[in-house]
Amino acid sequence: MTRPTDVDLSARVGRLDLGLCVMNASGPLCTHDDELETLASSRAGAVVIKSATLEPRKGNVEPRIHLGGDGTLSINSVGLCNLGYRAHAAQAARLRQGAGKPIIASVAGFTPGEYVEMASVAGRASDAIEVNLSCPNVSGKVQVGLDPEASEAVLRGVRQATDRDIWVKLPPYQDASQVSTMAGVLRRCGVSAAVCINSPSGLDVDVENEVTVIHPNGGMGGLGGADCRRIARWNIRQFHLALEGALPVIGVGGVSTAEDVYGHILCGASAVQIGTALLASGPRIFDRIESELAGLMRRRGVVRISDKIGALRIRPEEETP
Ligand code: DHB
Repeated sequence: MTRPTDVDLSARVGRLDLGLCVMNASGPLCTHDDELETLASSRAGAVVIKSATLEPRKGNVEPRIHLGGDGTLSINSVGLCNLGYRAHAAQAARLRQGAGKPIIASVAGFTPGEYVEMASVAGRASDAIEVNLSCPNVSGKVQVGLDPEASEAVLRGVRQATDRDIWVKLPPYQDASQVSTMAGVLRRCGVSAAVCINSPSGLDVDVENEVTVIHPNGGMGGLGGADCRRIARWNIRQFHLALEGALPVIGVGGVSTAEDVYGHILCGASAVQIGTALLASGPRIFDRIESELAGLMRRRGVVRISDKIGALRIRPEEETP
């Protein structure tokens, strides 16, 4: 399959060019070699690897991921199951040979020093580093992304440790002043993209059996899928406005169709990531989204998807009768 030539579905994120403005979200189907090779040879515009920790982790006990609503909803408490950053950096280096698309390593440290060490090694092996400040499933400490000073310390360290583009995976915020503070942090730290949003915390109930749908963390975890879409859009829009074009936003949350992609882009995303729908449908989802998005753009007379970044209009005021 070749990309359509009459419409431009590409994205520029920092210094990277993506042939398609849609890629996987770190999390599902991006840990093992076979999964990553499948993503690399899919239509995805980039490949993001599972968030790495310093040492390999088995993660939480099963069942730790639940797909519901016919694949439109998920809840997970995987607990950072990963191969460790050295192995993931080696995967990135291998994938970069011939993938023809950017390969992004994700790092999730437990201390600022861990982020720095991982970013320095993973940075040499990949095209950009996604700094995950927002894993909801590791208990004990507040998510770094909810602490602006801690975030700044991590990002300053990472900025010194690598010359690569830095993407920052942010938690969902619920208050515009938190967004404005974090936008300032990102701008001061030389970051290349804000990735909005990681999973909101949630709880699913199997009412029939009066039981949670996953086991770890008291059955509570990170939400994915359609439930996240509007929370993601609020965050994408808020960061798009707060960042004033200084850096792009990558939108994540509740995307399973081309319309979902287009909506995130109208809110201000330059590119979009897919998590739950990738888990439900597999990497062929990128073929479907690519052809649906091309069709949607032709119907709407849009030639370049990038022309629509942030183009959302506010519904006009109506005269009261
Ligand atoms: C996990 C979940 C996340 O949302 C994340 O950002 C990192 C790790 C996990 O449970 O593995």
